[in-house]
Amino acid sequence: MTGNWYSHLDEHVGDVLLDAQTIRKRVLELGAEISRDYEGKSPHLIAILKGACIFFSDLIRSIDLGLSTDFIAVGSYGASTESSGEVRFLKDLDESIDGKDVIVVEDILDTGLTLHYLLKNLESRSPLSLKVVALLSKPARRKIEVTAHYVGFEIPDRFVIGYGLDYNQRYRNLPDICVLTLGAQSA
Ligand code: IMP
Ligand code: MG
Repeated sequence: MTGNWYSHLDEHVGDVLLDAQTIRKRVLELGAEISRDYEGKSPHLIAILKGACIFFSDLIRSIDLGLSTDFIAVGSYGASTESSGEVRFLKDLDESIDGKDVIVVEDILDTGLTLHYLLKNLESRSPLSLKVVALLSKPARRKIEVTAHYVGFEIPDRFVIGYGLDYNQRYRNLPDICVLTLGAQSA
């Protein structure tokens, strides 16, 4: 990979899977679609921290509606690239979602375990409606069926970094989405 400021950051940054321009275009499309679907409403968008933060900040600015926001953090991978299947709340919502048109914003739908758990929990809090938008989905990795109503891109079974997605809390600031390369123990 050549030509980017991060080309030579370290040996773990592999090929660009989705460049910033491609992501930008798709986020605008998703924003337009949500704006149409929620016309006359005022949806409540919930970002799942931390991976979705960059997608979230671009997405909400591409939605032409009055909307409200909240943030939730659930336990994720720690230092590994494999889901433990164990999900725990690290930060709960600040506001009640009772009677609201909730849209959960996730960075990537992988095994589906995190979102499955989270959706069950949110459903029990009586939202008026509950939908999911995921920037990325790896269908080949799914362990449990989860419906994402809006998906940015379906991608192959590769561990990716950038545009908010991390490995060991690094690489979130890459403007493109790249493949992580771990040499011998490749993800
Ligand atoms: P799931 O519970 O397996 O669906 O995992 C979802 C979470 O795992 C995502 O919200 C991400 O935080 C993390 N994750 C899954 N795949 C990747 C990846 O390729 N790169 C970075 N994080 C990932
Ligand atoms: Mg995440």
